[in-house]
Amino acid sequence: MKADDIRRVYLEYMTETGHVVIPRAPLIPHDDPSTLFTGSGMQPLVPYLLGADHPAGTRVADSQTCLRVQDIDEVGDNRHTTFFEMLGNWSLGDYFKQEQLPQVWTFLTEKVGLDPNRIYVSCFVGDPAHGIPKDTESAEIWTRLFTEAGVSADQAEVDTEEHAAEVGTNGARIAFYGKKNWWCRGGDAESMPVGEPGGPDSELFYLYPEVEHDPAWGANCHQNCDCGRFLEIGNSVFMEYQRTETGFAPLPRKNVDYGGGLARIAAASIGTADVFKINLLWPIIEKLQDLSGKTYEDQTVAMRVIADHLRGATFLAVDGVRPSNKAQGYVMRRLIRRAIRYAFELGLEENFFPQIIPTIAGIYEAHYPEVREHAAFVEAVLSKEEQSFRRTLRKGIKQLKGYRKTGVTGVELFVLSDTFGFPVELSTEEAQRAGIAVSESWREEFDAQMAAQRARSQQATKAAS
Ligand code: SER
Repeated sequence: MKADDIRRVYLEYMTETGHVVIPRAPLIPHDDPSTLFTGSGMQPLVPYLLGADHPAGTRVADSQTCLRVQDIDEVGDNRHTTFFEMLGNWSLGDYFKQEQLPQVWTFLTEKVGLDPNRIYVSCFVGDPAHGIPKDTESAEIWTRLFTEAGVSADQAEVDTEEHAAEVGTNGARIAFYGKKNWWCRGGDAESMPVGEPGGPDSELFYLYPEVEHDPAWGANCHQNCDCGRFLEIGNSVFMEYQRTETGFAPLPRKNVDYGGGLARIAAASIGTADVFKINLLWPIIEKLQDLSGKTYEDQTVAMRVIADHLRGATFLAVDGVRPSNKAQGYVMRRLIRRAIRYAFELGLEENFFPQIIPTIAGIYEAHYPEVREHAAFVEAVLSKEEQSFRRTLRKGIKQLKGYRKTGVTGVELFVLSDTFGFPVELSTEEAQRAGIAVSESWREEFDAQMAAQRARSQQATKAAS
């Protein structure tokens, strides 16, 4: 099934089950200064999870556009993207585990048609120190659902990922973890700010049996192993707690917060572990292949990074962000510059954004018509940034060529990056291309300069305060 169909079928099914479908919130949270971006489906719902009445009632659903820059360095593998869509449904003090788990099961196995044999789950092992019990109720529901589908439903209690990798799960369908099955913004029960809602969750994974376990991740594979055999495709958070000074208190209502990764579900549905093959990303890759004359097989990482970053930058522009040197604008600038840096690897040295943005607008026009509506404007914003960065790069290259005789160390590379905004990875590559010697220890020299500059600015801040 295509991602667009999965999104539509999900929202239709949610409507049938009494949910009101709400529009996506912009990537920039309105009343939440604690975070730069909408990074999960629940974020716009926080006040309601804490107890306020939602105008649409106690059952709502959506497909939320999200941006997570924490994962930026992982973009390039087959499953990480900074921009993604999360299918979400919420029970705001309405139904709980008994309704949620069968509901997500029906969606995945009947509506999308995923093979139940390839679905694995995890549940919360409990936190006795905080008086939070093991989630045996979810495990019982899963056991019933798997058994009815004719699938074995063994359990394993592994707690940490390290322990899981060490002892293995013996292929258990239902694995109990500790920290991994606690969900809150920021991810950690210990460091959650007072007042923040959270709770145990039950996660869903899709197995790719053709991927062999990579022992680099530990002796044994298990649901949360990062080797690529399992892909997390969603989670149901049972949001019933709120952090207090000393531990946890129950929230006024028990909520459900389901989040399903649309791209990953779509990849599972077409039998690939590569999310870039789905119809929300593949047309961008095809366009990059056409423009560069290179193939995805040869330039996988560069094409993945460019496709992800330009899509993210496009949605940021649609949602009102402009490239700048601070906050959201800085992240947008970073996405654009990284895309250009990788474009060099494809030999795309001219302005190419205007050729890609119409493709992105085409991909999203049915569900997010605002992308097409603003396409000309987005193109203007992004092209301006592309042109100015390419000018910076040209200046940097000229400067770099001045070191032809002497060669460069990390010290000169630092000056280039600091004064011209010339990214160090680019300057080393350029130096190599131009036959300029780069000192072997350039990275250490560069880092030392960076650390010294940081120390200087800290002293300056202290002196000023
Ligand atoms: N359940 C969500 C998540 O996994 C939050 O909405 O991010």
